[in-house]
Amino acid sequence: MRRLSLFAWASVFAGRILAASVQLHSRSPVPQGWENILCLLDYGVFGSPVLTGAYHSDYTGMTIEKCVAFCDSQSTPFRFMGLANGYECSCGNFFDNYYEDVGLSSCSSWPCNGDPLEVGGCGGLYAASMYRRINSNFIIPALVPSVGLWNGLGCYNDSVSARALQVRVEAGSTTVESCVAACQAQGFSLAGVEFGRECWCGSQLQHGSTFFGNDNGIQHGNFRQNPNALHCNMGCQGNSSETCGGPALLNLYNFTGMYPIGASVVPAVDGWTSRGCYSDTVSSRTLEQRIDVGSVTAESCVNACQSQSFSIAGLEYAQECWCGNEIRPPGAPISQSACNQACVGDASEVCGGPNALQIYY
Ligand SMILES: *[C@@H]1O[C@H](CO)[C@@H](O)[C@H](O)[C@H]1NC(C)=O
Ligand SMILES: *[C@@H]1O[C@H](CO)[C@@H](O)[C@H](O)[C@H]1NC(C)=O
Ligand SMILES: *[C@@H]1O[C@H](CO)[C@@H](O)[C@H](O)[C@H]1NC(C)=O
Repeated sequence: MRRLSLFAWASVFAGRILAASVQLHSRSPVPQGWENILCLLDYGVFGSPVLTGAYHSDYTGMTIEKCVAFCDSQSTPFRFMGLANGYECSCGNFFDNYYEDVGLSSCSSWPCNGDPLEVGGCGGLYAASMYRRINSNFIIPALVPSVGLWNGLGCYNDSVSARALQVRVEAGSTTVESCVAACQAQGFSLAGVEFGRECWCGSQLQHGSTFFGNDNGIQHGNFRQNPNALHCNMGCQGNSSETCGGPALLNLYNFTGMYPIGASVVPAVDGWTSRGCYSDTVSSRTLEQRIDVGSVTAESCVNACQSQSFSIAGLEYAQECWCGNEIRPPGAPISQSACNQACVGDASEVCGGPNALQIYY
């Protein structure tokens, strides 16, 4: 249906010749309620147009006004409109395919097939004049460059089967602010928002996650299919004017401060004294038993170990309480700076870190 027939080409060129024979070329007006934002290559004739919400072609009668009327007659109040090749009209809320931005001048000399005096608003040869509806209902989310001590690093790739960041955390109704706060409370150095609502934290990037670009769609709409244009462009669940990543894409933030913020080591609990920070490993545990104490603090953990007749207590990874009667190798003292997480049960207390135990006995 989108392939040009010989008749169509004949009509197209008839339009060109007619236009050329008209001496006075008037620049076509931008329709009210719309702005002309771009001129894009559009390979619509090969089946992959930029906008795919609705499509209408009229080899002999197309004008900008007719395209506006067509887009307005659809059940969705589409956000973008495109006119290509002088006779093709399409509408959509996303740029499903995105080709080269060829500059507004590449769309400025062809007439609309339906009106030879309407020059410059109906695209060009394989070029589409792209319009955006001026409508406050369409909020285009913007990148939050930084939040407090967290610096934005841009858009990074993720994948469902191999996650870029270690843990997903609850961040309420997700915003960039709520996510970095949730990651900060647990002592992480990286935070990432994804798919509008997910909040991820980690201490390093995993699985080859790498910078993907910074385009949040302000210039070009929301891209979906073209991998070269698929950037972080989804509004946050908790604030639609902020960008919260995209599908399998993280807006990544890096903590630039020192941990733990506002938390300090509880020096002693019931006669048990803090003995510093010790290393731990998942494969060989420094303390023999993990105990579930619900809301972990230095007090709740020490009390739990004491009541079970252990002589050593250790706090790890913000939320783990470990007990034992000996410090088992390879566990050994390490820098206190490795115990860099606040307790889940009380953010003013230090609760070890990743593979790091705050030890009491
Ligand atoms: C990110 O993209 C790179 C390059 O395409 C790829 O090698 C890597 O596996 C991806 N990582 C994730 C976490 O998706
Ligand atoms: C939503 O985000 C914008 C941009 O970051 C910010 O200016 C605005 O205050 C936020 N709104 C609310 C209700 O937090
Ligand atoms: C985060 O910032 C630190 C310096 O503050 C830097 O060493 C580190 O490479 C950054 N992380 C990423 C993923 O860019």
